[in-house]
Amino acid sequence: MSATASKLRELKDLPGPRKIPVLGNLHQVTPARLHQDAEAWHLKYGPFFHIRLGVIDMLVVSDHQVLNTVLRDRPDGFKRAPIIEELGREMGLPPGVFTANGEQWKRQRRMVMAGFDPSHVKAYFPSLLKVAQRLRGRWQGSAGKSLELQPELMRFTVDAIAGLAFGSEINTLESDDEVIQHHLDKIFPMLFKRIMSFLPWWRMVRMPADRELERSVAAVMKAIEGFIADARQRLAADPARRANPPNLLESMVVAADEETSGVADIDVAGNVLTMLLAGEDTTANTLAWMIYLLKRNPETLLRAQAEVRAVAPDVAGFTPEQMAGLRYVEACAHETMRLKPVAPFQVIEALRDTVVADIRVPAGTQIWCLMRGDSMDQRHFPNPERFDPTRWLSDNGEGSGGDGSGDSRQMSPGSAKRVSMPFGAGPRICPGRYLALLEMKLVMATLLAHFDIEDVTTPDGGEAQECMQFTMMPVGLKMRLAARH
Ligand code: HEM
Repeated sequence: MSATASKLRELKDLPGPRKIPVLGNLHQVTPARLHQDAEAWHLKYGPFFHIRLGVIDMLVVSDHQVLNTVLRDRPDGFKRAPIIEELGREMGLPPGVFTANGEQWKRQRRMVMAGFDPSHVKAYFPSLLKVAQRLRGRWQGSAGKSLELQPELMRFTVDAIAGLAFGSEINTLESDDEVIQHHLDKIFPMLFKRIMSFLPWWRMVRMPADRELERSVAAVMKAIEGFIADARQRLAADPARRANPPNLLESMVVAADEETSGVADIDVAGNVLTMLLAGEDTTANTLAWMIYLLKRNPETLLRAQAEVRAVAPDVAGFTPEQMAGLRYVEACAHETMRLKPVAPFQVIEALRDTVVADIRVPAGTQIWCLMRGDSMDQRHFPNPERFDPTRWLSDNGEGSGGDGSGDSRQMSPGSAKRVSMPFGAGPRICPGRYLALLEMKLVMATLLAHFDIEDVTTPDGGEAQECMQFTMMPVGLKMRLAARH
């Protein structure tokens, strides 16, 4: 950001696809492939280019160093694009830490982080383990059958987050009834559809899908009221819990009850919803991609299997230490997130006039952060298309360090992490990242210790297609398992 004023470029000086009146570039993108459309432009126009989606001008950035700089300049320099909160509110969704900005975000982030501190996550390990054991039971019962991979994994992630964050047992793994994620699943796709709409059709005419959404939002909000009522009941029954609330929801309720906290009941509901939405698809989609990539790369599957069967052979006895010992499995997760980041872009808005690289950026400009550009660049990762988890292990098999040389062949795992940022960066980096990694290791260890993966198939037998629905998911993966013992 040191370019002198005279050398600064304006947004309109930047390269970019040709725009037509009114639509700009909107007619050139397909919502389900939005990220891939933008990545194709990145290959053509380079790390900084200009697009216009309807009336919104955007600076697209894919250079990882510049992305690091802008994402770190929050909350003062940039905020999340307000459209998510605006449309979410209109759908009846109370805002939470993901959509909040400014002072409100600072308060909510502090509150949420308290629930995610490592000691808390560690104390929760036994409950998380119970969920993994239920997953084993469910899969044992359906050995040999073709399972829809992503919904299976969502059952795990929703049960896991409900226990940790809300102290509630949801147990969707052992239920085939109307489960909460059937309703949650309606929310992201519709929110994304509305974000991508040129015209707000839903304000003019309500289609069956809009009515279905309303029913789902009502069902989710009712479930959330239930979580909050249960938490209040537990606090009333045992007032000692107020001094040291054992889960995120109870600590939020305690905070909301203090007049000076600045936390209102609506913040509590908003953050329960945020945890459910932010923690469910992201982790389940990443796991689905990981299982798919391992099956397509048999040598990596064999190594992951060997590690699990040596380090953590039985879900009945998994310990936090065993999970920490799954270094190769963790490397598989990092490599999966490099190739298949489930949040391949995010949009932020400048809060003041500023300069990004050598580009003048007036307040109010939207920046589209394209997160997979440099992660797929030969300069940073040789053979970038290859699924090679060893990139994330240093020579001694550990997963840390950083030489900062920028030489891809010697790139250490520490340097690689500065290029591939699947959890974002800076003060708003994903607070659930350690939990997500632990959940992923638990699922992979359960899967590889107790089952052989017979096949993972796509609908047309070709490569799995990426579909953007707020998060990026694989389309239609099915898995068949054989139980080992
Ligand atoms: C593989 C799994 C996950 C991925 C890839 C992921 C990715 C992300 C990304 C890219 C962001 C935006 C970060 C930024 O603005 O720089 C984010 C934010 C967030 N994530 Fe995650 N996430 C995952 C799992 C989770 C889980 C399990 C939870 C909690 C249960 C969670 C809760 C949140 C919250 C609350 C935010 C908003 C933070 C803020 O704005 O201050 N995420 N996540």
